[in-house]
Amino acid sequence: MMKKQAVILDCDPGHDDAIALAILLGAENIELKAVTSSAGNQTQAKTSGNVRKLLTLFDFKEIPVAKGAEKPLVRELIIAESIHGKSGLDGAELPEPEVPLSEDKAIDLIATILKASPEPVVLVATGPLTTMASFLVAYPELKGQIKEIVFMGGACFGGNWTSTAEFNIFVDPEAADIVLRSGVKLAMFGLDVTLKAQFFSEDVAEVRQLGNQSSQVLGGLLDFFNQRVAQPLLPKPGHIEGMHLHDACAAAYVVAPDLFTTLPLYVEVDTRPGLTLGSTLVDYTGKRQLAANANVGFDLDLPRFRELVIQSIGRMA
Ligand code: RIB
Ligand code: CA
Repeated sequence: MMKKQAVILDCDPGHDDAIALAILLGAENIELKAVTSSAGNQTQAKTSGNVRKLLTLFDFKEIPVAKGAEKPLVRELIIAESIHGKSGLDGAELPEPEVPLSEDKAIDLIATILKASPEPVVLVATGPLTTMASFLVAYPELKGQIKEIVFMGGACFGGNWTSTAEFNIFVDPEAADIVLRSGVKLAMFGLDVTLKAQFFSEDVAEVRQLGNQSSQVLGGLLDFFNQRVAQPLLPKPGHIEGMHLHDACAAAYVVAPDLFTTLPLYVEVDTRPGLTLGSTLVDYTGKRQLAANANVGFDLDLPRFRELVIQSIGRMA
């Protein structure tokens, strides 16, 4: 009997969050204990509803769902409607949710699960780190029950919301600062590797050929995401072809870490107002002479990654 790793996903669906969820649900070596929602791609009301709709579509209706905060720790919420649309999952009709919303807040549900777990739990975060940070502040005594926080966010080089900051970190830099200073084992999947997690129209066609209901809906979502992302939003030299399944990298790493190349590096975040607000300073050359606090992703086995994505979608209802 394969030993399953207990995982909790905090996400802000979000098209690529939906793929990350399917990867975790479809993995034989993972037990997804709960899904919590963060405000980011869309408002908390929409992202929490999208989590429940996706679990309904995928037919994993027994997984507990709890809402995180309505906004970042100290800042006003910025959403990515330009990328993910008004619903946060534009491009396809999702079923009405048949998954209840827990009365617990996200951080309290996470605490309940960690306290009850015989083994430390992996926390995966694919939205702003508001929920992660709030949990660490509220329940410092449970840090030992966290095996690792695996998050999509930041970048060693570049940004996608500003020229120096990636969206998830830019939305809540103070939360990222708490997580990066927490001492918890971290794996960071920033733009350096997630922009290489390219998915193309022919891959979407292969998804649609799977024939299950989830693949038809996700096919529509991915076509929408492709239109929004694949346009050269950046000056040509900065544009990388295809759509980029950012969040799927964090989920895929938990399922199959050997898909990725990571480096142990010291990472800090800029919370000062100004041009570099929300940028992650990854000490690639060791100049800070501080111990590494994260394993940072830089490369992936793209053919095997694509295969995992397609296989996972095929395992949904
Ligand atoms: O920068 C990419 C990240 O921002 C992804 O998590 C995507 O879902 C958006 O939230
Ligand atoms: Ca996300």
